[in-house]
Amino acid sequence: MTATLINSTQSYEQALHRAAKVNWRVEDIIGEEKRLDFTKRFLPEVLARVNDIQCLNEREKLLLNQIRGNSYLHIFGLVEEFIVPCVINHVKTTGLADITATQALLHFAEEESKHIRLFRRFAEEFKLGFGSRCEGIGPVQDIANAVLQHHPLGVVLIILYIEWMTQYHYLASVRDNYSESLDPQFCSLLRHHWLEEAQHTTLDTLMVEQLVATLDQTEVVAGVADFFKLIEFINGGMMAQVQLDLASLSRATGRQFTDAEKQEIQAVQEKAYRWTFIGSGITHAEFVKTFGQVAPTEQSQLAEVAQAYCH
Ligand SMILES: [Fe+2]
Ligand SMILES: [Fe+2]
Repeated sequence: MTATLINSTQSYEQALHRAAKVNWRVEDIIGEEKRLDFTKRFLPEVLARVNDIQCLNEREKLLLNQIRGNSYLHIFGLVEEFIVPCVINHVKTTGLADITATQALLHFAEEESKHIRLFRRFAEEFKLGFGSRCEGIGPVQDIANAVLQHHPLGVVLIILYIEWMTQYHYLASVRDNYSESLDPQFCSLLRHHWLEEAQHTTLDTLMVEQLVATLDQTEVVAGVADFFKLIEFINGGMMAQVQLDLASLSRATGRQFTDAEKQEIQAVQEKAYRWTFIGSGITHAEFVKTFGQVAPTEQSQLAEVAQAYCH
């Protein structure tokens, strides 16, 4: 990892340069004439996976897709709530001696704060237009604090896979997706989030490298062990969200699902959540590469764990 560290100043400069070019405002993306279109699906099928559910008609599949869109806003708002304090903690270690790193990392934290506002703003629009109550896992602050109780290396590795995962969500499912007519506003949210996350992958990789450089082998092992614990913790949250989505769907459709119907929806949705929020990130080639540099001996464990989160 030493070779990469030599180029870190250049990487921070490039990240700042690219970030300055991208810079958007929440108000440019949502509000006034820019409204959610509730006649359209919000998430691509590869993320929402509603089509395979036999017990739902087309209208109910549309509602479930939109509920999944709202849950997406909630979950991303939540993860940003542990990303911001984690980055702010890390920036204390760079200090004024490495001013370029400090500026780039502060900008990283500022962008993630803006993303929290973005997701909350979209959630408000959803609430106004959807017509029935939808719930998200929480309390958000308690979940974010529970994540931050883990080893900092475990936390930055989790953040790194989330950054790569966000890119997959836009690039693989929305940008070249001509077969689905999704809500333009939701596509715009995924696109604008991706535009800034593209810089975050560079910055978070540097955070991982710099943190590892300060740790001895025992600490690295402890950090990687916490990364795997956090994957299970996040999975628990996602499975709880599936249950909340089921209740939201019942309210939105006015249907009391039978046990068999609940089981069918649950089985498809659990798989969808595992892939969307874990599998698509921890199998991303760039994440696997960085993880392999940090923990070469645990790479096979990562591949094994990933199997449970893939299609
Ligand atoms: Fe973000
Ligand atoms: Fe990010």
